[in-house]
Amino acid sequence: MSDKAKKLLEKFAVKNRYANFGPCLRKVMIHGFRGIQSMDLNLEFPITAISGLNGAGKSTLGQVAICGYKKPTTSIDYKRQYVKDFFPISPADPKPISDDAKLIYTYETDDYKKPQEVTISRASSAWSGYKRQPERYCYYIGFTVYIPKVERRDLSVYGGANLLFTEKRDINPDVIQKMSRIIGHKYDVVSFQGVSHNDKESEIGIASRLGYSYSENNMGFGEGRILYTVDKLETSPVQSLFIIEEPETSLHENAQYEFAKYLLDVCNRRHHQIILSTHSSVILKALPSESRKLLVRDQVGVEIKDRISSNQVRSILSCGHVRQLDICVEDIFARVLLIEIIRSKKKELLKAVAIHDIGDKDAVREAVRVLRRTGKNAIAVRDADVGTAPQDGLLSFPGNKPPEVEVFSHPAVKELMSKKYDVDIDWILSRDDVKDHHKIAKHIANEAEADEEVVRALAIERYINEIANEFDDLIVRINAAVCA
Ligand SMILES: Nc1ncnc2c1ncn2[C@@H]1O[C@H](COP(=O)(O)OP(=O)(O)OP(=O)(O)O)[C@@H](O)[C@H]1O
Ligand SMILES: [Mg+2]
Repeated sequence: MSDKAKKLLEKFAVKNRYANFGPCLRKVMIHGFRGIQSMDLNLEFPITAISGLNGAGKSTLGQVAICGYKKPTTSIDYKRQYVKDFFPISPADPKPISDDAKLIYTYETDDYKKPQEVTISRASSAWSGYKRQPERYCYYIGFTVYIPKVERRDLSVYGGANLLFTEKRDINPDVIQKMSRIIGHKYDVVSFQGVSHNDKESEIGIASRLGYSYSENNMGFGEGRILYTVDKLETSPVQSLFIIEEPETSLHENAQYEFAKYLLDVCNRRHHQIILSTHSSVILKALPSESRKLLVRDQVGVEIKDRISSNQVRSILSCGHVRQLDICVEDIFARVLLIEIIRSKKKELLKAVAIHDIGDKDAVREAVRVLRRTGKNAIAVRDADVGTAPQDGLLSFPGNKPPEVEVFSHPAVKELMSKKYDVDIDWILSRDDVKDHHKIAKHIANEAEADEEVVRALAIERYINEIANEFDDLIVRINAAVCA
């Protein structure tokens, strides 16, 4: 973990949190919004990065969070956001929120044992609870704020020829350096020039580098977004809440990494709380695990997973195209057994691992060595009769015999084979032609007039059910290897 992340964790420790970050959000309970039945969003770090597949509900979480604060009494040009601003109801969208929808916000106070709770719910058609909220400046940095001006065709483009320049705001050299570091090229000057046209006022960013200068109207998309976002984070009041939508958009990978580092830096200096949605494994990796959340939506509902490893997120977001761990096993039986063990104990790991049947124990050891030399994350799960060498990434199945023998000689499996197929396993195992354990399933299948795959699958399922607890250690080790 970087020094800045460590420092932030300390500042955000619950006892220090209010002193550093003010009445920031500790938790938001969301009920009945866009298919989210009931979920706690726990804010464990000043920056919360929410990842997940498209449509999982990432933006929804940021949108409800920003509705958690009243307009500060000291504010002048500031508009707070309400639920209705993000969840409009229309004939096209009759029910984005359920009738019993509610939000329970938990805020830090000067006594960490007594946080403040405010419930926002719908009494008939109007929402109640807003008045009890604390005050805070909140900013939503969505997509449209950075649309290049030529696409948005705002007044700086429309009225380009007749613009009147008003006040100019120079950006401080320290901040310019931060912008330069993210984008990857040096700026000499960055300023925001006030403009007016037909009673409309706006500001346009202007950058100078290598002896020429250009405005937002001629800036790259990524460049415009960064200048806008960094300026907002630097010039807003301290301890603000920021919701940032997919900050990686139009940034090259190193810029994404530098931007995540910048967020750690600005939170350390200005004590903002930031909630961002992202599909970027580069950003997730640059942030500590306390930042990372993964949203998963399926037929049952939407679930949030805390502190997920960036490797696992990458595997999940790529739907398994990027596997984070190669696991070598000896043969097909071991492969099927391992897949089913993982499925029964921690099925989300299946998308993070690729399991290969390699050959005998020596071939497996060699495969792990070669994979590791080429920079891959690899381990082996070998047969129990070979033993383990965890320091070399060599694990083993439970028991003390090859897995086929462990599975088929388990009393519950014998009973199943006898009842279902009328096959006596003890007799098959004692036969001279079945000395090679790799062939046990085949012989049973022949005797039973069944397919080998079916016999194997049934036996493995029964065996795993019977000794489920004996796989815990193996799963812990595989999980640790995925997260390494
Ligand atoms: N009325 C509704 N009832 C149930 N679910 C809904 C409803 N309206 C929207 N949704 C769900 O909410 C999703 C949109 O939520 P949200 O914008 O928060 O997702 P997201 O994770 O930010 O997606 P993206 O990565 O594409 O930006 C839709 O894809 C849909 O699954
Ligand atoms: Mg979104």
